[in-house]
Amino acid sequence: MLSYRHLFHAGNFADVFKHALLARLLLAFGGKDKPYFYLDTHAGTGRYDLSHEWAWKKREFENGISKLWDRKDLPAALAPYMDIVKAENPKGRLRYYPGSPLIALRLKRPGDRVLLTELNKTDFATLETLVAREHHVAAHCLDGYQALKSFLPPAEKRGLVLLDSSFDRPREFPRIVKALKEAHLRWATGTYAIWYPLMERAAMRDFAWSIEKSGIRKVLRLEMIIGTVGEDNFMRGCGMIVVNPPWKFDAEARPLLDWLSQALALEGRSGAKVDWLVPE
Ligand SMILES: C[S@@+](CC[C@H](N)C(=O)[O-])C[C@H]1O[C@@H](n2cnc3c(N)ncnc32)[C@H](O)[C@@H]1O
Repeated sequence: MLSYRHLFHAGNFADVFKHALLARLLLAFGGKDKPYFYLDTHAGTGRYDLSHEWAWKKREFENGISKLWDRKDLPAALAPYMDIVKAENPKGRLRYYPGSPLIALRLKRPGDRVLLTELNKTDFATLETLVAREHHVAAHCLDGYQALKSFLPPAEKRGLVLLDSSFDRPREFPRIVKALKEAHLRWATGTYAIWYPLMERAAMRDFAWSIEKSGIRKVLRLEMIIGTVGEDNFMRGCGMIVVNPPWKFDAEARPLLDWLSQALALEGRSGAKVDWLVPE
């Protein structure tokens, strides 16, 4: 039984971070002629109505996309992501927030292939309806970790896997590292983007260490803190590991995340960090 529903969190700071980076990654893939493959293992519903009572329960979007909505000074690197959000809201008032599947759909070219998996049956039904008429887009009600085994390596040879777990079960970090290692054995040249929440320091150290000793190389780590709370300076933030990032993605992401971390800052320390956890 899956209790997590993304509508409660849609458009929050973590979504902005993740989707802004996702758009940059997909644009980089679209910069070459050959078609690419995109697998979204934890796809969600694809689009979120921020006027729904679930979204209003904690109004997390107010500390995320709402803070960017009226800004006139967005960095150019954020424009493709914001254009997609704006296109979902043609009346000029923020109501619909695009999830990762919709971002991929808007950036895909005719020959690119998109594969989406979502385990929650209700959310999957919404997703399936959203993408039903799209070409070269398939959605499956399937465990995302199983999808890595079933669909990799892809015929296209180049592409991106987004692993965006809801972290609603214990031991998700070891599960992710195990899945990444197995997927990398199947498809070593693929790009993998793995989103994670910043948790207590020991858990983050273990996660980083388990990737460092996995044998996988060319691992970029991107993190953003929007505030620190409590006596132990607990961090409110999130991160993304990108294995085999596109060329110069690190240089592009650094100023983008610096800007975002300031635009979304709450009380306490905020900032962003982009470093090579494992170099080439
Ligand atoms: C963080 S949300 C995804 C948000 C989406 N990627 C986006 O950015 O718009 C995580 C989703 O994963 C789904 N989920 C949880 N465990 C899963 C699993 N093992 N396989 C596939 N989906 C899963 C949840 O139902 C939830 O919709």
